Amino acid sequence: MNDVILSATGLGKTYYLENETIDVLEGIDLEVSKGSFVVILGPSGSGKSTLLHIISGLDRPTAGRVVFDSTDITAHDDQRLSQIRNKKMGFVFQFHHLLAEFTCLENVALPALVNGIAPLEAYGRAQDLLDKFNIGDKKNRLPDEISGGERQRVAIARSMINDPLIVFADEPTGNLDEANTRKLLEVFGGLRSEGRTVVLVTHSLDIAGVGTHVYRLKERRLYAL
Ligand SMILES: Nc1ncnc2c1ncn2[C@@H]1O[C@H](COP(=O)(O)OP(=O)(O)OP(=O)(O)O)[C@@H](O)[C@H]1O
Ligand SMILES: [Mg+2]
Repeated sequence: MNDVILSATGLGKTYYLENETIDVLEGIDLEVSKGSFVVILGPSGSGKSTLLHIISGLDRPTAGRVVFDSTDITAHDDQRLSQIRNKKMGFVFQFHHLLAEFTCLENVALPALVNGIAPLEAYGRAQDLLDKFNIGDKKNRLPDEISGGERQRVAIARSMINDPLIVFADEPTGNLDEANTRKLLEVFGGLRSEGRTVVLVTHSLDIAGVGTHVYRLKERRLYAL
């Protein structure tokens, strides 16, 4: 089927610590169609971030493979992986990971600049995205000089700067109030109508309602709801 943008087969993840091995994921299969909005629910510690990092190529599985946009990304080296991530994926981290010494505008523009987009264009796009999330007026502040919810919105704007095919979001509404949560979900819904795909992990049942496909992560395995 060519409308599958991402598929994971037999994914497993074990963390090996000095005196302990921690089995986090086991036998996970997931197929994500283009234009879908996948929501994965699970309590704290169930492995949501681990799974999201693996399917987005930020981390490697200990078993199984991930095919994204028709290529097996688990077979790529780190350099190739980061190229694909930068060009085709957007990522909203659980902890926003903004660069402290750069302004909000610079933080949002950076992935575009890294991608070779001309500064004028990159900063213009960054400004539009900040405006879209109602933080255009904070563009010259440093991440430390805005609120947690505003930082989250800057991180969301940054994830969209390179026009990603797919956006991965890890608990993106954690710091947002009701109005901004609604706005974020609308933006994600809008991405879908442009044929883009969203994969979001959260412990919040409230968000499940907006998903076109909803799963639960429980005892290392993934179940369709
Ligand atoms: N780098 C690591 N080394 C060892 N264990 C880890 C590592 N990262 C995560 N874990 C463990 O793996 C399990 C899953 O962690 P993960 O962060 O994926 O959960 P989560 O569902 O995202 O939780 P939360 O909702 O709190 O963010 C937890 O038991 C955690 O302690
Ligand atoms: Mg997490």
